[in-house]
Parts: sequence; C-alpha cells; structure tokens
Amino acid sequence: ILLIAIMFIAAYLIGSISTAVWVGQAYYGVDIRQHGSGNSGATNTFRVLGKKPGTAVMLIDIFKGWTATSLAGFLIIFNAIEPDKLVVFQLILGALAVIGHIFPVYENFKGGKGVATLLGMMLAIQTEVALMCMVIFIVVLLTSKYVSLGSMIAALSFPILLLLPRFQPDNPILIIFGFIIFAVVVLTHRKNINRLLQGEESKANIKLGRKR
Ligand code: G3P
Repeated sequence: ILLIAIMFIAAYLIGSISTAVWVGQAYYGVDIRQHGSGNSGATNTFRVLGKKPGTAVMLIDIFKGWTATSLAGFLIIFNAIEPDKLVVFQLILGALAVIGHIFPVYENFKGGKGVATLLGMMLAIQTEVALMCMVIFIVVLLTSKYVSLGSMIAALSFPILLLLPRFQPDNPILIIFGFIIFAVVVLTHRKNINRLLQGEESKANIKLGRKR
C-alpha cells in the first residue's frame, strides 16, 4: 500500500513539472502564460518561442506521461499488485500525471491542456494505437492547421480504435477510461472550441509538415 501511495504521488509530481513555463522563464525570460493562447503547453511554446523550445517541451511532456505510466511496472516487480491489474494501475498513474500537468502543484494548479502527457501515457499502454492517434493528429493538423482540433480528434480516436476487433483490450476499462479522458480533453479545450466555432482559433504556421 505504501509503495502504491508513493507511486501515485510520484506520478502526480512528474505530471506537475511545468515544462513550458519553466523553459520559457529559464531560457527566454518569458512567461508563456502571458503570450499566445496563454496555455502552458508545447503548442503555445512553438507559437511563442519557436521550434526548438517547442520540440523540447513536447518531448519532455510526452516523456512525463510515459514515465509516470511506466511506474506501474515497479508495482509488479515488487509484487504490490497482481499482474492482471497492470493496465488499471497504468491508467491511474498516467491519469495522475495528466492531472498534474493540468493542475500542477508547483504553479498554483494552473497548467496546460494535457495532450502531450496523455500521448505519453497512451504510448506506454497501447503503443500501436497511440501511434495511429499521432498519425490522425498530424493529418488533421496538416489539413485544418488547427492543433486543438487535431488534439481533440486524436484523443477521441484512441477509445474508438480500441473498439476495433484487432485492438480490443482484454480489459474494457481501457476503452471506458479512453472516453473519460476524451471528455477531459474537451473540457481543457473549452476556449479553443469556442474560438473554432467563431472562426477565431489561431492556425499553426506549418512550413514543411513537421510535427506540431
Ligand atoms: O495541446 C494543446 C493544444 O491542443 C491547444 O493549445 O495553445 O492552441 O490552446 P493552444
């Protein structure tokens, strides 16, 4: 129980690492939350600070989700949980990291929208489907130029793809969780949805079709 509690706290603290805010402050003297969409995420870092910091924030945020989710492996190694519970604990740990990203303890609980961290979590749990979601994200981004739209459609694609016979997980909780997470992504994108509906969402400036 103690180990499980420590892992839960660790997952939340890992998720809380406010990469975009810290990279902006440390290397550019800029508070990313005062610029662009005001979101402390990879997209806004690309938008405000450029490709290099944007890529760094994106990779670190993905890594946060992946690492937190993978902590579940320790619970198996130390016999803290039954192996058939692995996916449940991966989901809880990954979700805690996403929650940490959205509500970071170090930054007054004002964080990002959770997309990159969520991707890291999905990569750790179901790599193949997560990669397909990334492709869907890139296709939506390249055709619409809206990162937010790509994020939401990719998040919805995860549980939907899991419904396909080829990917159907042993534990249906993964699918249920996928839909819950999609709902969270919609909530964190409330402002983006309003802007999209009003035709005011900012378009990504993509030159040679590279990610985000
Ligand atoms: O990952 C967040 C993205 O979907 C939207 O970010 O900065 O355009 O609100 P932003």
